[in-house]
Amino acid sequence: MQGVQTQHSSHYQLQRNNNTFQLQQVPSQQPALAADQVLIRVGAMSLNYRDLLILRNAGQDTVDGQIPLSDAAGTVIAIGSKVQRWQVGDRVAPNFFPQWQDGKYQTQHYSHGALGGANLAGVLAEHIVASEDAIVAIPAHLSLQEAAALPCAAVTAWHALFERGQLQAGETVLIQGTGGVALFALQLAAAQGAKVIITSSSDEKLARAKALGAWETINYRAQPNWDEVALALTGGMGVDHILELGGPETYARSINALASGGHIHQIGVLTGFGPTPNLWPLQFKNAHINGILVGSVAHFNALNAFLSQHQIRPVIDQEFAYAQASEAFDYLASAQHFGKIVINVQA
Ligand SMILES: NC(=O)c1ccc[n+]([C@@H]2O[C@H](COP(=O)([O-])OP(=O)(O)OC[C@H]3O[C@@H](n4cnc5c(N)ncnc54)[C@H](OP(=O)(O)O)[C@@H]3O)[C@@H](O)[C@H]2O)c1
Repeated sequence: MQGVQTQHSSHYQLQRNNNTFQLQQVPSQQPALAADQVLIRVGAMSLNYRDLLILRNAGQDTVDGQIPLSDAAGTVIAIGSKVQRWQVGDRVAPNFFPQWQDGKYQTQHYSHGALGGANLAGVLAEHIVASEDAIVAIPAHLSLQEAAALPCAAVTAWHALFERGQLQAGETVLIQGTGGVALFALQLAAAQGAKVIITSSSDEKLARAKALGAWETINYRAQPNWDEVALALTGGMGVDHILELGGPETYARSINALASGGHIHQIGVLTGFGPTPNLWPLQFKNAHINGILVGSVAHFNALNAFLSQHQIRPVIDQEFAYAQASEAFDYLASAQHFGKIVINVQA
């Protein structure tokens, strides 16, 4: 730690404001580094819909004083005495679940906690400390701002389509909306040679999705029966993979639009939590539901290899300065974005 200057460092914490929270910027303590930890100077962070749910206090009442956000990328500036894998100067990003390194998901990964949730401090800070086995090297072709977009949204899309779904070239994929998870899923699936149908409330966003490689597009406002449209687009066969991001208002249509033997990747809550749809039709389609919770360090590394191989760059809608973190949250809430919203620490 000798020679590392972090005394003017700061972080944001969640401060109770009636029934929700607001952001408060406060000075940070000089971090203490354990033998297996690294100190990271954060270059940028990105926002996810989850961060908005936490700020709005959707179910979590125990985050008062917590540092929010799960996604960041930065540079290692100090290492603990027993750290083997990393050197000062390495460009890294922390994994959403610090304890899920590899193998199958275990409930203990969730109970131990995710960055920026009730149990673990997040990354909306100028400096963060991480265990050496809970971070990944970021792809060489990406800036810190681009890499900060990856940890939650891109790993989730990768885990769903490639790890659980074993996506093959020529298969069809339906993606709901044009937010962070959605656009990573589009870019990854298109690079794999899959045929992507994407839905949006905006024709302008759909045109941009087409330019990113979408095969077909549906405006879900103009065509609320988008499931029937998707069935027609696939010649009545249905879609092989559906990224279920909407929840209660989209789930029944996702089941209707699914192909025999297809996969519903159950990920999102954009229209709320529950109620349970009628799952009976899935039996007659011999279909799968894959519950997805972000992913492991191994998933993140596999994603990064694929991004490097295909030279894929995250779609960043807008960058906000570190001092404007609250404005970044307001912009996320407005749902005007196409892709990711980034907070830039180093100008
Ligand atoms: N299970 C997990 O591990 C996991 C991980 C990451 C995210 N998630 C969840 O996945 C969802 C997406 O997260 P995100 O961070 O990518 O969100 P986001 O970037 O905030 O995406 C917002 C976009 O979703 C679209 N949308 C909203 N309502 C929709 C509807 N009824 N039908 C279709 N699209 C709709 C809109 O796109 P248009 O403007 O184009 O209409 C909106 O702009 C959230 O519910 C989040 O909590 C879960």
